[in-house]
Amino acid sequence: MQEIRKYVRENKQRFLDELFDLLRFPSVSADPKYKEEMSKTAEFVAEKLKAAGAENVEICPTAGYPIVYGEKIVDRSMPSVLVYGHYDVQPPDPLDLWKTPPFEPTVRDEKIFARGACDDKGQFYMHIKAFELMMQTDTLPCNVKFMIEGEEEVGSANLGTFVSQNKERLKADVVLISDTSMISLEHPSLETGLRGLSYVEVEVTGPNRDLHSGVYGGAVANPVTVLAKLIASMHDEDNHITIPGFYDNVLELSSKEREELNKAPYDETEYKKDLEVSELWGEKGYSTLERTGTRPTLEVNGIWGGYIGEGAKTVLPSKAFAKISMRLVPNQSSEEITRLFQNHFENIAPKSVKVKVSPHHGGEPVVTPTDSIAYKAAQKAILESFGKEPIPTRGGGSIPIVALFEKELGIKTVLMGFGLDSDNLHSPNEKFDIANFYKGIETIPLFHKYFAELSK
Ligand code: BES
Ligand code: MN
Ligand code: MN
Repeated sequence: MQEIRKYVRENKQRFLDELFDLLRFPSVSADPKYKEEMSKTAEFVAEKLKAAGAENVEICPTAGYPIVYGEKIVDRSMPSVLVYGHYDVQPPDPLDLWKTPPFEPTVRDEKIFARGACDDKGQFYMHIKAFELMMQTDTLPCNVKFMIEGEEEVGSANLGTFVSQNKERLKADVVLISDTSMISLEHPSLETGLRGLSYVEVEVTGPNRDLHSGVYGGAVANPVTVLAKLIASMHDEDNHITIPGFYDNVLELSSKEREELNKAPYDETEYKKDLEVSELWGEKGYSTLERTGTRPTLEVNGIWGGYIGEGAKTVLPSKAFAKISMRLVPNQSSEEITRLFQNHFENIAPKSVKVKVSPHHGGEPVVTPTDSIAYKAAQKAILESFGKEPIPTRGGGSIPIVALFEKELGIKTVLMGFGLDSDNLHSPNEKFDIANFYKGIETIPLFHKYFAELSK
């Protein structure tokens, strides 16, 4: 531990400078205009992996953006850790809400502000630096493989093929991912589950063209009004989702499990204050921690139609649209929920409009084991670096690859995230506390150490 801290201390500024270089690439996977930048980011990651001591570093092409692979095999008979991360980021919009530009990393108040600072560049880069540290101090106790992809934020469409075509190369005893949150530095925690996702886009068409809202208004159904009603009807007065069959496969937690989960520190007053809302909202009968971790949800991510430019335009629009995501929990299936949504939406639509549902990407929910060697190694590592036992929590977000690794490779994951829920992931002014970045670099070598020890 002393040696780890010493190495981090001596290389502090360089670690940060390198992360800043990484954050300067606008690697937005959703927007094709950043294609060039995506390749440059992959090259940068590959170069840093090599410099840290990885072998067989390769930028593997896919039908979409490339996957960066690298490894250090100490001894084939030793256990192997597969580190997964993603170098792509969410679009930075709306730009005018950023205090400093999203791709010009800036430190304010001991925090790094930039798109990707926490999700996931700042977090996977900790692993590259921790690996460098283990190589430089000659303390790497097991084999490590890195797989850093560029399409996580758009659904990892090409990752499945890569994984199934590279089973031998990716073979490992555990997948280690830092792409989730912890409660705080005072209350370190480990996420033990992630929700799945069904993402759909709906289109409601009324008349065949935009109409004068005075001439035709009152005689023809307005698709925006219809869509608003359809969406509103998808939660009942207790905020349960009304899609028939939606809850059929939901695994209810035992009262013991619920009790455990609700022990995690949570301050409702603070929570409301942070978000500037005077009341919370959610499914009746469940706490906030349960609502965000163990219950499925349906959220509108975007809704539009008609005139949304400056000033007023009296128009009865022909079309209205919405993007809707549903977060899933064990044992819901993304494909089935998408189908149920589609059937329901088509059923409840009035004859005055036509509706179309287009499924986007999805992912399956997962629960990660807490009785495994790898989880125990993470517990021990955190206990040593933070001086406190980590609290197990359930994450509300989704990392579809986790279920895929389990299915394709039969490997379970440890989610050792160092971000905070308040890091503004996917929103303006995304940040990562510098302290969390260094804490991660310090904790990761301990994970490897204990994982190798406990595997013996
Ligand atoms: N890192 C996040 C997921 C996450 C964040 C999990 C915080 C737990 C806590 C990941 O990059 C992400 O944003 N995933 C998407 C899903 C993906 C299919 C686009 C999500 O959760 O919306
Ligand atoms: Mn992420
Ligand atoms: Mn993300």
